[in-house]
Amino acid sequence: MSSTPLIVLLGPIAFVLIIRWLKARRHTIGPSGPLLSYLGAIKFLFRGQEMIQEGYTKYKGSMFKIPQIFYWHVIVASPRLIEDIRKARDDELSLDEMTRQVVTFLIVEWLLCDIRPSRPSKQITQSGQKNINALLPEIREEVCAAFERFIPPTDDWVSISVYAAILKVVSQASNRVIVGLPLCKHPELIDLNIRFTVDLFQSGMALSFVPSFLRSSTVGTNHRGEISSIGATWSRLGRKTGDISLGPVVSYTDSKRTSIMQNDFLMWLMEEATGHEREPDPLTRRVLGTNVAAIHTTSMIFGFALYELAANPEYIIPLREEVERVVEKEGWTKIVMQKMRKVDSFLRETLRFYGTAKTSINRMATKDFRFSDGTLIPKGGYLSATTDGIHHDEEFFPNADVFDPWRFANIREEDTESLKHQMVYLGREYLAFGHGKHACPGRFFAANELKGMLAHVVLTYDVKMEQEGVLPRPMNFGFLWGPNRSAKVMFRRRK
Ligand code: HEM
Repeated sequence: MSSTPLIVLLGPIAFVLIIRWLKARRHTIGPSGPLLSYLGAIKFLFRGQEMIQEGYTKYKGSMFKIPQIFYWHVIVASPRLIEDIRKARDDELSLDEMTRQVVTFLIVEWLLCDIRPSRPSKQITQSGQKNINALLPEIREEVCAAFERFIPPTDDWVSISVYAAILKVVSQASNRVIVGLPLCKHPELIDLNIRFTVDLFQSGMALSFVPSFLRSSTVGTNHRGEISSIGATWSRLGRKTGDISLGPVVSYTDSKRTSIMQNDFLMWLMEEATGHEREPDPLTRRVLGTNVAAIHTTSMIFGFALYELAANPEYIIPLREEVERVVEKEGWTKIVMQKMRKVDSFLRETLRFYGTAKTSINRMATKDFRFSDGTLIPKGGYLSATTDGIHHDEEFFPNADVFDPWRFANIREEDTESLKHQMVYLGREYLAFGHGKHACPGRFFAANELKGMLAHVVLTYDVKMEQEGVLPRPMNFGFLWGPNRSAKVMFRRRK
């Protein structure tokens, strides 16, 4: 056979493949193409932060995609286009579906499946915000008690692998609001709540390498109705947490139960629950779900803030002066929380500079979705906003790559609309708590807890890094990001 018919035959195929390859390469970060994209997905696990930053630099104002093992993840790199996500309806761009399919299949399957649509957020927003100010004295008391327990003040310097201690402080203090006294102090419950989230995310990460059609049998019940080993482990963990946290409450009859119930999240849940939702299982899942949302996010931000403080002890004095001044005048009240502007600014800057993730506002398109710039995300596509790119953009934050703890306090001095620079205030250029209707409903609680913790640290301790002045390197694996887990901070009772 002469070569001419072969060229005629293969030429168009090669042409189509080249066009498809060129199209796939458009707005793509990392190796692309049929097999190379797998290399890109592996590269992302180890160089995720740099790949997202590279995408932002190249495609600021639009969007880019990064390869994952089974899909392409679209990263939106423009505040204007993030507004489109904010305005989209849940049946166009879905947070639940995204979480279920990609982030951690289990969070939705095991924690939320039978309680949708009344998710934990509803209780936190409706009851929580109303109650959180009333609970300030309790939060403050538990923050002090937890620090005393896990980082007891000493006269001489002691070196502590502090991240593990922070997780415990946050677990105990948060659970004062979630399940109340005395359970919040229960050592086993504190550990279970921390471990449950870690297991969930690690396994969720592992599951992202399993094709979706195999996931149900990996994590849930298989075709014979047996619970798989991963599912069984979670079930046991969940059950144990449930037994500890809810056992004493739900095993009482209704009248006795009322007498031991306190003003906490569990009580709000039980008051609002109807029918099946009042049973121990759904209640346990909601308590667990709240702990998943609350503990690691709050700990990460506090971890980053503490490392900045310990690496730059000169930040302590202005914070200490502020806390002492406002507390002396007002006591530990809601007003104090509002008046601690430097404390608030320190934490907002931590959320801006570090955050709990390099991306947020994660969504899945449940139907074809067209952005206002004309870009089409086909049904089933995954997307997120690049928090980090925007937070480190000079256009929005001068000296964006510098951690300036007083940045927002200084802006508030000059801006008549000073409230919008508080740590809980959302905006399309400040995405640490998301944006729009799914923005973090727990942020008011987190803000009070974090401010209480930072205030307590500067009032009680002197701190410095074991390696003086050296900021520990954050950890990053794919989309996961957080403070260094092994760095040591030196503490002593304040001199
Ligand atoms: C510094 C601490 C925290 C940070 C940085 C944080 C951040 C976030 C972010 C980025 C989202 C996703 C928003 C979106 O997709 O648009 C979110 C959602 C959520 N957060 Fe937080 N969060 C924190 C603390 C908490 C706490 C303490 C609670 C509970 C007590 C909580 C409960 C939730 C819930 C229930 C959602 C889901 C909202 C929904 O589905 O509509 N978070 N959070």
